Amino acid sequence: MMPNKAATNVAFTPYEISLCLHDVPRTRMWKEAIEDSVSPGDVVVDAGSGTGILGVFAAMAGARKVYCVELHPRFIPLIEHLAEQNGVADVITVIHADATTVDIPEPVDVLICELLCTGQFFEPEVQVVNHLRQYLREEGTIIPRRIRSYVRLLDAQEMLYGVRIDCDSRSVVLDSDEPVSTRVRYDTIDFSGPAPLQVDTTATVTARKSRVADAVLIEGEADLTDHITTVTTKFLYNPEVIFLKQERMIEAGTDYSIRIRYPYGGDSLDALFEVEPA
Ligand SMILES: C[S@@+](CC[C@H](N)C(=O)[O-])C[C@H]1O[C@@H](n2cnc3c(N)ncnc32)[C@H](O)[C@@H]1O
Repeated sequence: MMPNKAATNVAFTPYEISLCLHDVPRTRMWKEAIEDSVSPGDVVVDAGSGTGILGVFAAMAGARKVYCVELHPRFIPLIEHLAEQNGVADVITVIHADATTVDIPEPVDVLICELLCTGQFFEPEVQVVNHLRQYLREEGTIIPRRIRSYVRLLDAQEMLYGVRIDCDSRSVVLDSDEPVSTRVRYDTIDFSGPAPLQVDTTATVTARKSRVADAVLIEGEADLTDHITTVTTKFLYNPEVIFLKQERMIEAGTDYSIRIRYPYGGDSLDALFEVEPA
């Protein structure tokens, strides 16, 4: 196991946090999951609070105490202000800290952690949940429950505006990107127990077309509860196109193995994706 190392350089900007807040379908899914999970009198942690919106949902659902933990100093007064404006300032305690190492002063009924990212790159969701689960009561609840990641091979477009653009990765799929294999699940992070800190696996896909594969398309989703699974929204689970270090000609009907290795919370460009005939 790798150490439970904090990815502390990923605090969001005010611009990004506003995109999160105003991504209405995303934020509504979380509201519903919180309302389904928080009971009156519960103690809740909202790890990576941002504006504090999820913590306020928990307080409005009847929590006795909500600890909002946020790394970025700029967001601390925002969370306090949101709590005051909505009449829940007495319930919310804001903690300016790294959620991968923070101490919580009492046992927790519900742990909320929205550090979700496609492939679970960039954001320390796993490190935060692994750390904070020590405070969770035995019958406590974690939102999300599970995270799944999917991969397929892509013949990705590199010409745009008449210009050849060789990027390493992008969080957008272009109309001319062509999926060239089946899509398979290559990873499940299950928060019913401590999660490993890295992906180290091989996925097998079947080529659908005979042409070049020069990228992988990574997609993700999370079960916020047993009944609410995320859908892709403007700011949640954007598909991630990662170009292969070595492109490969593939043949329709042939199986290919994709060797996948990366630490959660790291840069997608440092991830290993290697394609070989299976
Ligand atoms: C995707 S945003 C979610 C914000 C908010 N919970 C929401 O749903 O709108 C992630 C937030 O986690 C914060 N963050 C990132 N790493 C953190 C860490 N190690 N400890 C505490 N907060 C962290 C970021 O600064 C950002 O505000």
